[in-house]
Amino acid sequence: MMQSKRITDRVTWVGKVDWELETFHGEEYSTWAGSTYNSYLIRDEKTVLIDTVWLPYDREFVANLKHEIDLRSIDYIVINHGEIDHSGALPELMREIPDTPIYCTRNGVKSLQGHYHGDWNFVPVKTGDTLDLGSTQLIFVEAPMLHWPDTMFTYMTGENILFSNDAFGQHFATESLFNDTVDQCELYAQAIKYYANILTPFSRLVKKKIDEVLALNLPVDMICTSHGVIWRDDPLQIVHKYLEWADNYQENQITIVYDTMWNGTRRMAEAIAAGIQMVDKDVTVKLCNAGKDDKNDIVTEIFRSKAILLGSPTINNRFLSSIGGLVEMVKGLKFQNKKAAAFGAYGWSGESVKLLTQELEACGFEVVHEGFRTTWMPNEEALEACQNFGKEFVRSL
Ligand code: FEO
Repeated sequence: MMQSKRITDRVTWVGKVDWELETFHGEEYSTWAGSTYNSYLIRDEKTVLIDTVWLPYDREFVANLKHEIDLRSIDYIVINHGEIDHSGALPELMREIPDTPIYCTRNGVKSLQGHYHGDWNFVPVKTGDTLDLGSTQLIFVEAPMLHWPDTMFTYMTGENILFSNDAFGQHFATESLFNDTVDQCELYAQAIKYYANILTPFSRLVKKKIDEVLALNLPVDMICTSHGVIWRDDPLQIVHKYLEWADNYQENQITIVYDTMWNGTRRMAEAIAAGIQMVDKDVTVKLCNAGKDDKNDIVTEIFRSKAILLGSPTINNRFLSSIGGLVEMVKGLKFQNKKAAAFGAYGWSGESVKLLTQELEACGFEVVHEGFRTTWMPNEEALEACQNFGKEFVRSL
């Protein structure tokens, strides 16, 4: 049973808190902190539903909505983005109120028809279009590629609420819903993970869209996202954070990502880390084992880094598949302004370092060292050479 929550006198949250969610986008995104699918009911002279919830909760959602309101009194539905975690309950709802107009972008029509094949009453909108609700008004702002071509924001006058859908969201289950009622470290850990793993490829557009929205000088009292908390305490704090994250973000951090078969490459990674710290005691160095650590957490560490070292032993003339999978993710995320080099242990043919160097280039990193490899299990001499490689690497940044 979902529990509706009052946001303002005119706005009620009618979404779903999903404490059990473990992965999202198939297995592509880990959601250890769960998530929420935020849907909002606006009651003015006209009644509007903004977004719905993920498909498995469609019946629960509609049943809850019926407790809240006579469904026939919903005048308009606004779908800010057609992905199934927000539109999944739409077919169940439209079975009850099939003629209700659905406001979305032109691409929104495409995605909703593509998913559900419903012959519904779509009203395509574009930036600047408005919808009068009586004492308040909705203003639509297209936000393509934040993060789908169909995405838009909806701004509500009177309450000064920006319904931003995925932007500014987090996969973070919370019963209390508001940003000032949750642990701030946990909130920002989830917010940066969400940005790093979902929005990084669109950073240029993030900056442009935020500048465009800020230029409208609309007062913003609340940002009602579609996942995680509602930003009501200093709501623009997350907007300013996004501007930082969108601007080739990096901290004074080097991340060493590796996998290992018999611990040779792990021992190399640890020696390289020690070498880096001998030269630069202020830099944060983190080691991530791609075979064991959460891939989205590794991506977040890469996002925060100014440089990356990527290591794998050679297997079947190539490198380990955990590194291959991670590299595929990183290529798609199009990180900017990061330096890199490769390393790895080998017994026989030793191709991994050369191949990893090519992969780093394909990821868009600036390779600053030809890479370093050792044979078999590194001995004291080899570990000292690894330290020297770490020193050379950090000096080259
Ligand atoms: Fe939360 Fe793009 O869906």
